[in-house]
Amino acid sequence: MRKLLKAIPLMLVAMMLAVMVSACNSGGSGSKVDVGIVLPTKDEPRWVQDEQRFTDALKETDYSSEILFSQGSSAKEKENVDALIAKGIKVLIICPQDGDAAAAAVEAAKKADVTVIAYDRLITNTDAVDYYVTFDSVAVGKAQGQYLIDHAKGNGQPLYLYAGAASDNNAFLFFEGAWSVLQPKIADGTFTVANSTEALALQDKAELSREDQSKIISQVTTNWDPNDAKNKAQTHLTAAVADMKGDVAILAPNDGTARSIADVFASDSAVTSFTVTGQDAEKASIQYIIDGDQSMTVFKDVRNLVKDSIAMAVAVLDDKTPETTGSYDNGSVEVKAKQTEVQVVDKDNVKAALIDSKYYEAGEFTGL
Ligand code: BGC
Repeated sequence: MRKLLKAIPLMLVAMMLAVMVSACNSGGSGSKVDVGIVLPTKDEPRWVQDEQRFTDALKETDYSSEILFSQGSSAKEKENVDALIAKGIKVLIICPQDGDAAAAAVEAAKKADVTVIAYDRLITNTDAVDYYVTFDSVAVGKAQGQYLIDHAKGNGQPLYLYAGAASDNNAFLFFEGAWSVLQPKIADGTFTVANSTEALALQDKAELSREDQSKIISQVTTNWDPNDAKNKAQTHLTAAVADMKGDVAILAPNDGTARSIADVFASDSAVTSFTVTGQDAEKASIQYIIDGDQSMTVFKDVRNLVKDSIAMAVAVLDDKTPETTGSYDNGSVEVKAKQTEVQVVDKDNVKAALIDSKYYEAGEFTGL
């Protein structure tokens, strides 16, 4: 009996421990998660692509994971990260809605000993980022600019510039790449900037500072929003004098904005022809390219980015050092990075690049 009495407190402790452990495992709201993935929004096909590719690739790993969307809100993003921390994640793969604002979320993750991998977009001005997995975003912008140069018609061709959201570090990298090739062609008279007084004021400057870029980007930003892009394009065409129409070149930062800008330019009878860039190889834009409504896209094979980030996460979980190929200055620290290449796609190679590579199926398009 005495023995039993002695054993009771022990049994109680054991039972309490069991309850605590199971509460931890379930985090109060579901089971334990090894890798948390946070993506910016479901409203853009680009990030739904990433979700799908993550889901496909994660089937092959032994680690558990959960993907959450921030729906364009940094507050929601922070909530998502907090929820994942509560589920015991060891690695966070996060594509920030806003590069600066995401610092708070990743700092909370670091405090909980989580390894932070910035995915596609860099998280800026914080030391709480361990790795960055990205496409070569400067090369994306270069490819867009070079395409406009290769398809330029005559001299003094009107050039309409558009950019991504200023809260996204990538918008700067894309613009930097585009400007590096376009600026000499603006300076030599091949192009005349049609829609940005700030770009006109800086047109003789080969290398722009971040402030210079900011000035232009804030004038021609689409905020990554097709509606904003459409409104801006309409305003620009309404204001344009006759010789800023005819055959025009348009730097559109991504596919979503490219399609809406293209629709606006196509509906102006004084615009005889236009070359318009894009990026992401979104299905809708591939159809536009096949139909001749968008000139090109930059194909960023999300399968590779996903593969690289999962490999990085697994290395961390297995206590190994992830493979990196360089680094990016995020304004606070040099973040070790793994970078992957991009490919230009237009009507000529769309089939080889996207169908033969099994990225998409031929049946998803008409007129291939
Ligand atoms: C991504 C692009 C995307 C854009 C808008 C950028 O950071 O790199 O692929 O089109 O954000 O979501």
